[in-house]
Amino acid sequence: MATRLLLLVACSLMAIASASNFYQNFDVTWGDGRAKILNNGQLLTLSLDKTSGSGFQSKNEYLFGKIDMQIKLVPGNSAGTVTAYYLSSLGPTHDEIDFEFLGNLSGDPYTLHTNVFTQGKGNREMQFKLWFDPTKDFHTYSILWNPRHVIFMVDGTPIRDFKNLESRGIPFPKNQPMRIYSSLWNADDWATRGGLVKTDWSKAPFTASYRNFKADACVPSSSTSKCAANSGWWNQELDSPGYQRMQWVQKNFMIYNYCSDRKRFPQGLPPECFIA
Ligand SMILES: *[C@@H]1O[C@H](CO)[C@@H](O)[C@H](O)[C@H]1NC(C)=O
Repeated sequence: MATRLLLLVACSLMAIASASNFYQNFDVTWGDGRAKILNNGQLLTLSLDKTSGSGFQSKNEYLFGKIDMQIKLVPGNSAGTVTAYYLSSLGPTHDEIDFEFLGNLSGDPYTLHTNVFTQGKGNREMQFKLWFDPTKDFHTYSILWNPRHVIFMVDGTPIRDFKNLESRGIPFPKNQPMRIYSSLWNADDWATRGGLVKTDWSKAPFTASYRNFKADACVPSSSTSKCAANSGWWNQELDSPGYQRMQWVQKNFMIYNYCSDRKRFPQGLPPECFIA
């Protein structure tokens, strides 16, 4: 039954492979000129100053796919700034897959914050430090989203695998198409050391850069062309080396895991925390 449903979904989707042209794939949505598409659509920059941040969103909605974006984060003293890059559907029972980069003082490490919302409910934060300086160069942040897994990857290294555990009563994002959103904004009330470190506006404007967007993804449409049939990512999951690399990251770079936060869940940890 589940398989048949998946096939039905798969057949009403159109596979697209979008390469990096920001004019074709994205709309700048806010920031009054602070978001810029440059180099014939090859580069996008977001900026933040005391008056406003900025943001963009994808023209397409996606339902499953492998989506890559290269991002170079705000360099120098980025404390108080947040660069959010995420997939989200709309409405009170929305699904969402989040990367958020919390800035820091010069030389102090960024925090990569991740979360997964299903049916409007999140509270699944996992946070990481990175094994490189994300402000020196572009690095690739990927979401592999298929009917069984949401896998977060950094430069191809898996850092988190949210599994489809519907059979255990845990909702999984699989019915609501999502757009890609990104924004650069000020969150110095909480982002850096819980709000202790404020944004230094003398360093503004703050700028983050994007390039080489790639979506090998399904776009819901009335077309009957097949999405899943020849997409390698449709059935992809972590193989044993991939799993070992994820373990390496989680052991050495994970700084927060909601599944270890018993204080926060006095009634008991969420059910997915007990399933390896
Ligand atoms: C900033 O750096 C400090 C010191 O290393 C660290 O405790 C903190 O987690 C870092 N990240 C943020 C977002 O504050």
